[in-house]
Amino acid sequence: MPFINIIFRAEKSSCIMAHFLSISDLSGEYLLKVLDKSKDLKKKTTPDLKNKTLLLIFEKPSTRTRISFTQAMYQLGGNVIALNAGETQLGRGETVADTARAISRYVDVVAARVYSHQSLVEMSQHSSIPVINALSDMEHPCQIMADLLTIKEKFKRLEGLKLAYIGDGNNVCNSLLLGCSALRISISVASPKGYEPDNRILQLARNISRPPYAVVDLMQDPSQAVKDADIVYTDTWVSMGDEKEKEKRLKAFRPYQVNDKLLSLAKPGCIFMHDLPAYRGNEVTDSVMDGPRSVVWDQAENRLHTEKAILLYALGKL
Ligand code: CP
Ligand code: NVA
Repeated sequence: MPFINIIFRAEKSSCIMAHFLSISDLSGEYLLKVLDKSKDLKKKTTPDLKNKTLLLIFEKPSTRTRISFTQAMYQLGGNVIALNAGETQLGRGETVADTARAISRYVDVVAARVYSHQSLVEMSQHSSIPVINALSDMEHPCQIMADLLTIKEKFKRLEGLKLAYIGDGNNVCNSLLLGCSALRISISVASPKGYEPDNRILQLARNISRPPYAVVDLMQDPSQAVKDADIVYTDTWVSMGDEKEKEKRLKAFRPYQVNDKLLSLAKPGCIFMHDLPAYRGNEVTDSVMDGPRSVVWDQAENRLHTEKAILLYALGKL
């Protein structure tokens, strides 16, 4: 059953429409169901979305999301229309609400990558088709589904593991907080002062995690965060939209690089994860990215398999 997230989801239509704006739109139980379906789809995919059309809208660049969603929909037998927001009337000032009303008349599901999460909430409130978050300033739920599948494949379980997130308390960090806590993975976030994850998300994650089963910790010291970690995760220090702060950020995050020394402080069997694109030499070294603990290409591949399951969920076929 969809979970109660009163902060980041569309309140009006959420009960009837399977939007996926936040990881917390789904309960832990339902997240597991989507992951199980992804595992099946990875082995075999049938054309269950024949005659359905996915609209992809991008306000920001994308490699993985655009290609994996397109391929996912094709492999499910459906069609795809992909647009950069600037090519649409959104770029000339048509409102998100009116755009949502119009596109609902043409396609069956929309996945949008936006600067402001509020645009997605608005879109979902005025759309009669499901809306999927393909990344916003607040969350990146599709990425975290692929990450959770990857973790499950590597460890054969989720509950009881510990993930250390090192770096910027950004969209990826926010969705990891919600995903890990729902599935009882402990999460320690180490971020410099001023770059912590959203406080409302942190509180929500703490409420969901129900300690002592899973613990949600926030700290500044990366070596403390990686202690006993099964998974060490990082993301870019300069997210899309943060470019103006680049120099300031590179300085603030310098002590947060995931390198061999930091990784050696985690559990011996730990894995390294990154949602990509990676900025080698900044948040991660070549030796970690290309080293034996890195599972980043499996994560990238699993975007395809989990997005198929997300599309089936959104279109009521799960
Ligand atoms: N991880 C991810 O979403 O990659 P893209 O920005 O290339 O889509
Ligand atoms: N935090 C990054 C993720 C990119 C997939 C960004 O928002 O740019």
